[in-house]
Amino acid sequence: METQPLRVPAASVRGGIPAFEVMRVIDAVVARRALGLPIFDLSAGQPSTPAPATVRAAAAQAIDADRLGYTNALGIPPLRAAIARHYRHTDSLEVAAGSVAVTTGSSGGFLLAFLAAFDPGDTVVMARPGYPAYRNMLAALGCTVVELPCGPETRFQPTVAQLDALPAAPQGIVLASPANPTGTMVAPGELAAITAWCDRNGVRVVSDEIYHGITYGEPAVSSWRFSRSAIVVNSFSKYFSMTGWRAGWLLVPDELLDSVDRLAGNFTICPPALSQVAAVAAFDAYDELDANVQRYKHNRDLLLRRLPTVGLDRLAPADGAFYIYADVARWTDDSLGFAARLLAETGVAVAPGVDFDPVEGGHFIRMCFAGDTAEIDRAVDLLGEWLPR
Ligand SMILES: Cc1ncc(COP(=O)(O)O)c(C=O)c1O
Repeated sequence: METQPLRVPAASVRGGIPAFEVMRVIDAVVARRALGLPIFDLSAGQPSTPAPATVRAAAAQAIDADRLGYTNALGIPPLRAAIARHYRHTDSLEVAAGSVAVTTGSSGGFLLAFLAAFDPGDTVVMARPGYPAYRNMLAALGCTVVELPCGPETRFQPTVAQLDALPAAPQGIVLASPANPTGTMVAPGELAAITAWCDRNGVRVVSDEIYHGITYGEPAVSSWRFSRSAIVVNSFSKYFSMTGWRAGWLLVPDELLDSVDRLAGNFTICPPALSQVAAVAAFDAYDELDANVQRYKHNRDLLLRRLPTVGLDRLAPADGAFYIYADVARWTDDSLGFAARLLAETGVAVAPGVDFDPVEGGHFIRMCFAGDTAEIDRAVDLLGEWLPR
C-alpha cells in the first residue's frame, strides 16, 4: 500500500523571536560548576539571597494549612490590598486595591499589559539599550517596535525631544527606571514631562518599575504619581528577592481593568497560589530587604571604584538596579565571543551587550553586582589580569 509522505507543520513566524544570549552564558556557568571549576558569576540578573524569612515561613504554613487551589484571576484580595498599601509606604501614593492585578512575575504582567493596550500593527517605542523581552514580546504580538538610541548623554534614557522628533505619535512607550542593563533612572521632572507628552498625544505608557526599592541616590518615583493612564509593572523578583516564585503585579488604569481580568483568566487562570499567599508576608520584611540593598550599594561602589583601575572606565552610572553596563570597545565588537572567552579563561561570567542592544551591544558587557562582595572583588582582579593593556 502506498503511504503518503508525512508533512510536518511549520512553526509560527512569531515564535522565531531571538533567545536571551545570557542563557548560553548561564548554561556554560552550570557546566563549569559541574566540573568543579571556579566561577565568579556576574551574569544572571538576580539577588543571591533567598526570599525574606517572613515569606518562607508563610509559605511553609500555607503548604500545611491551605488548600492552595485556583485564586481570583487578578490575585487574592489580601495581596492586592498589601500591594496597594506598599505605595503609601514607598511613594506616599493612594492606590486602590481594585487597581492592582497580581501577575506571574512582571513577565506575565508585561504580556497582559501589552495584550490589553496594543493591537497587531501598533507602534511601541522604547530605549535602546533595554531589557530584550519588551522588544521580543511585542514583536511576537505583531507590534512594530521602534528603538530610540539612548547614550550616556541622556543617561541611556529617552527624552521628550526624541518623542517630538518621531514622524508620528506611537501607540505606546515602554519606560524603565531604573533600567536594565544600565541601572540609570529618569529624573522625576523628565518622567513628569514624558508622561504629560504621552497623555497629550494618546500614547499608552508602560512603566517598568521592577527595580524600585533598589536605588543608590534619590528614590525612584512611580509613573502613577504623574499619570493614571500609565500601566505600572512591578515584581517580587528583585527588591523582594523572589525571582523563582513568579509573582509580580500591575497597576491598571480603570479603562483596562476589565480587559486585564478577562485576559488573565483565559491565559493563566491565576498566578501561583502559594507564591501569592507567601508574598503577603514580604511587606513585613522591609528591614531585611533594605539590608540587601546596602550590600548591593557596597558592591556597586566597589565596582565603580575598581573597574577604572583595570582599564574599564566607560561605565553607566548605575543609579539603581544591580548592574554595571561597561563599554568594552577598546577590546572587542563581539561581546558574545568576549564573554565566552572571559568565562572559559578566567571563570568570570558576564552578560553580553548584544542581548540589550542589537546595534551597539557588540561592544558592551553587563556585570551584575547582586552577589557576594568577595566574589565580585576577585572577579575584578581576574578581569584586570586578563584584559590586554
Ligand atoms: C527590567 C526588567 N523587567 C522585567 C524583568 C522580568 O522579571 P520577572 O518576570 O522575574 O518579574 C526583568 C528581569 O530581569 C528585568 O530586568
